[in-house]
Amino acid sequence: MLEAPLTPSPSLPLSGKHIVLGLSGGVACYKSAELARELVKAGATVQVVMTDAACRFITPATMQALTNRRVFTNQWDEREPNHMPHINLTREGAHAVVVAPASADFIAQVAQGRADELLALMCLARPLSGAAGGKPVPLLLAPAMNREMWAHPATQRNVAQVRADGATVLGPAAGDQACGEIGDGRMLEAAELRDELIAFFQPKLLAGRDVLVTAGPTFEAIDPVRGITNHSSGKMGFAIARAAAEAGARVTLVAGPVHLPTPRGAVRRIDVRSAEQMLAAVLPEAKRHEIFVATAAVADWRPANAAEQKLKKDGSGRVPALSFVENPDILATVAKLPPAERPFCVGFAAESHDIVRHAREKLARKGVPLIVANNGPATFGRDDNALVLVDAQGERELPPGDKLALARALVAEIAARVPPRRSGAKG
Ligand code: C5P
Repeated sequence: MLEAPLTPSPSLPLSGKHIVLGLSGGVACYKSAELARELVKAGATVQVVMTDAACRFITPATMQALTNRRVFTNQWDEREPNHMPHINLTREGAHAVVVAPASADFIAQVAQGRADELLALMCLARPLSGAAGGKPVPLLLAPAMNREMWAHPATQRNVAQVRADGATVLGPAAGDQACGEIGDGRMLEAAELRDELIAFFQPKLLAGRDVLVTAGPTFEAIDPVRGITNHSSGKMGFAIARAAAEAGARVTLVAGPVHLPTPRGAVRRIDVRSAEQMLAAVLPEAKRHEIFVATAAVADWRPANAAEQKLKKDGSGRVPALSFVENPDILATVAKLPPAERPFCVGFAAESHDIVRHAREKLARKGVPLIVANNGPATFGRDDNALVLVDAQGERELPPGDKLALARALVAEIAARVPPRRSGAKG
């Protein structure tokens, strides 16, 4: 019989997950080796199943070495005592079948329920419902094909059919193709597919809800070339946007000047520079969002009058006399909206000392139901953090971890506290 899944490390994002990775024929098979590796590195056990055509693009030996498991390529495999790999493969603890690449022909086979090769046969035979105590095994397809093949009405019909039958389609991406053409049909990259799978497994605690996030620093101009900013990297806010999208939310991310890619999934990004621009972007959005998470490190003050031209040193030793005005408090402004327009507001407090006391003061001063406190200087720019949740009930510590793991834990806390959907809210 098949090997039992290995005992995984509990702290990795795919720990405990057993993935059946199917390869159908396509040049993108070269990315599947990397994908197998990414899934194993993320804690999953990976069982590879390949079609004959896939074996022409990459060898089972490569996939076996990367997954440390025998590869299955045909339904008459004599290694299985009951001669039924198409049944056994999805019955022995599989959490998902991921077919990458999924060729146009393979998608057509799945759409029609054909079973002429082990991989299609196994997809047809996988449990669809939890009947008889079994667990449904979801199917995820990562299409890879020439752009004309992807755009063809026959392929689009088949894709719509497999979706209607419950499969999840990941991508495809647009770009350069192996055939030299440019367009839709490229398989997603291995790391993107890994992240899609991790997202797929997250509990959908915010399904259909609208979440607004501010992230990063602001930049307050002194003149056209200089300004005042801070060390916020935006990583925590971007992690929260990603975690909320993974939990099924539609996310609007208002970002100050940061060097971070927009998280995958349902995340709409609005880039701003100054606190005033951030407020102008947030206010019209706040009214149609149910949750507002303000992680941005908004500058408290800005130069009263930014010079239109660069301030010049004149050799006299005189320095420019800068005067400041206070910036609007974005979080407090949103928290004061009339109840029917006000989202559930979550503030952050980056402190260097007396963290909980300052967070509790902020809770009262800003009039928000939840403040998330952290040690600002210790976390700026880093990938890990530790959070303390402060609300009217008391304090709760989220144990130190990487920002994404903390963001997922925070999303779960927010989901548990946010009031039921407002009538009239989107979705
Ligand atoms: O007032 P302080 O900056 O310490 O408060 C931090 C919290 O308030 C964060 O959630 C931050 O995003 C938000 N804030 C804001 N607008 C400001 C200052 C802070 O939204 N002008």
